[in-house]
Amino acid sequence: MPSHRIIAIDGPAASGKSSVALALAQRLGFSHVNSGAMYRAVTWHVLQRSVDVHQPAAVVAAVEQSKIVCELVDSQSRILINDQDPTSHLRDDNVNRAVSIVSSIPRVRQILVPRMRECAKADNVVMEGRDIGSVVFPETPFKFYIDASPEVRVQRRRAEGQRDEIAARDRADSSRAASPLVVAPDAEVIDTSTLTIEGVVNEIMRRLKQKGLPI
Ligand code: DC
Repeated sequence: MPSHRIIAIDGPAASGKSSVALALAQRLGFSHVNSGAMYRAVTWHVLQRSVDVHQPAAVVAAVEQSKIVCELVDSQSRILINDQDPTSHLRDDNVNRAVSIVSSIPRVRQILVPRMRECAKADNVVMEGRDIGSVVFPETPFKFYIDASPEVRVQRRRAEGQRDEIAARDRADSSRAASPLVVAPDAEVIDTSTLTIEGVVNEIMRRLKQKGLPI
């Protein structure tokens, strides 16, 4: 059991997880860890190497051969691959299209999950993703599943000027065999469709207090 506190925020694409997780982390003075960014970074890396993402063995070989460093910088997670920082490419169209395929490969998850656990050894964290409450930190008592209606989520992505087939990504993320997107049985579900980011953060803070987090 890690000695630091872990708040798990899971949910589908464009549910508001990232904005909420960041604002919550700032409110609590915790670090913010975006696990989706780790899968995106690895996806960017294999695409850079012209690896066919439909060939799991080739993807695994490229990932195993690379040096992956995850660290907390100014209370934010950052991933370096072979000393390169892919941050500005994480939402490229080709990464959006391929990330669900790459993240469905069990060995890729097996490589990245320990990196996520390492981050929580360094600080209290708010960690967002798909399987944080169900697989990465099933023992944390602080788990939230953030959702919003499909229409609202599509609009949110459009407002960000992004081309992201979120319905297809959700289908892939929910139906894969390895650590699919699920609502952990002990997660608190919050529908953000009609809430502001501040409204969601306030609601999570209220529930964290109820659960005994000293805040
Ligand atoms: O949160 P995001 O949309 O940036 O995540 C990108 C993809 O990474 C998502 O489609 C599925 C995958 N992912 C995952 O499989 N497990 C996580 N904990 C986080 C993300």
